[in-house]
Amino acid sequence: MLSSKRILLIITGGIAAYKSLDLIRKLRAAGAAVTPVLTDSAKEFVTPLSVAALAGEKVHSELFDLTSEAEMGHIELSRSADLILVAPATADMMAKMAQGSADDLASTLILATDTPVLIAPSMNVRMWEHSATQRNLRQLQADGVKIFGPDAGDMACGEFGPGRMSEPVDILTAVQMHFTRGPLTGQRVLVTSGPTHEPIDPVRYIANRSSGRQGSAIAQALVNQGAEVVFISGPAAADPPLGAQIKRVETALEMAQAVEQALPCNIAIFVAAVADYRVELPGAEKIKKQAGGLSTLSFVENPDILASVAQRRDNRPDLVIGFAAETEALEKNAQAKRMRKGCDWLLANDVSAKTGIMGGDENAILCIEQAGVDQWPRASKAQVAERLVQKIIDHVEKASTAHG
Ligand code: CTP
Repeated sequence: MLSSKRILLIITGGIAAYKSLDLIRKLRAAGAAVTPVLTDSAKEFVTPLSVAALAGEKVHSELFDLTSEAEMGHIELSRSADLILVAPATADMMAKMAQGSADDLASTLILATDTPVLIAPSMNVRMWEHSATQRNLRQLQADGVKIFGPDAGDMACGEFGPGRMSEPVDILTAVQMHFTRGPLTGQRVLVTSGPTHEPIDPVRYIANRSSGRQGSAIAQALVNQGAEVVFISGPAAADPPLGAQIKRVETALEMAQAVEQALPCNIAIFVAAVADYRVELPGAEKIKKQAGGLSTLSFVENPDILASVAQRRDNRPDLVIGFAAETEALEKNAQAKRMRKGCDWLLANDVSAKTGIMGGDENAILCIEQAGVDQWPRASKAQVAERLVQKIIDHVEKASTAHG
């Protein structure tokens, strides 16, 4: 619940502004007070009257509004909030924030406060993918701004891809999670999950049996303990965790890129079953049946995402955790894998068909670290997640005592 929380909701001028009306209703239904701020261009998409009616409060939009200055200065306006939420956040707004520009009320409010800021970007897919926006995104992340979304999907402009503002119900969950306090509050954790799909041609791909359940369970347990979680998932059947920042990818190369963009973080957990190889030249068209059988596919190796993060010199997370899927000689193979990858902990599981672990509900872990090996009893994936997250909490607390 958000009772006694005041959200300063900045609505900027994107087509998704209409969704902000629903967001206001949901925030208020959860108990929050909403102070709305509209940029000039937002007024082209939603009217101040409807925003004020739903928020039950006056809409602020003028930088030099003498009545407002007399009642409540714009500095006070942002400082009295528990959270500044920018939804939708246009490419232009992100650029202004990254620059520290303050040429209207919305940008001035953001610059004039140390209140936490959460933004829900919304823009055309090309604008989102443009190197300028991605540069601004990295700057905002480095400045401590929390980013939620965007989702991928059909866009109002008729294109498809990432850029669509997250749904109000998901933004509400992110806001609620922002206020969740726990032993992992302040820890930014990256989790990879699910299988990857490596295309053969536009209609076929190479995949594996990973369901993504273990990754989702771990990410959810981390969110529940107050962590800020970036969840990077291949095409998985499992429900994604609520309250995490979700990035959907298809291939190992896309996963590697998303991981790179999500750094720096405090902890990184690599649960994904990443394809080791991809087809060198996927067909641009559907490969047709041929007399004499299918021609041989040639493969190239995918980057090892875990190893590249575990072995980096700059921005290495404090704790890097890998998984090992083995079908034989579990401990020996997993010990060697931990050394080869350079991760701190390696959670090994036997995924041979007889165990039913891959794609199933349960897991049995052999936890390997420098200090030794620990056999965890077979348990549900949710229980394995709880156990891992408790081990992480113990580790974080020990490290902070050692430093402090
Ligand atoms: N991993 C990764 N990137 C890859 C391959 C694996 O990040 N390209 C990560 C997995 O997420 C997991 C760990 O490395 O945390 C081990 O994955 P696994 O499939 O068990 O090992 P591989 O490195 O693929 O080795 P092998 O197939 O020889 O067992």
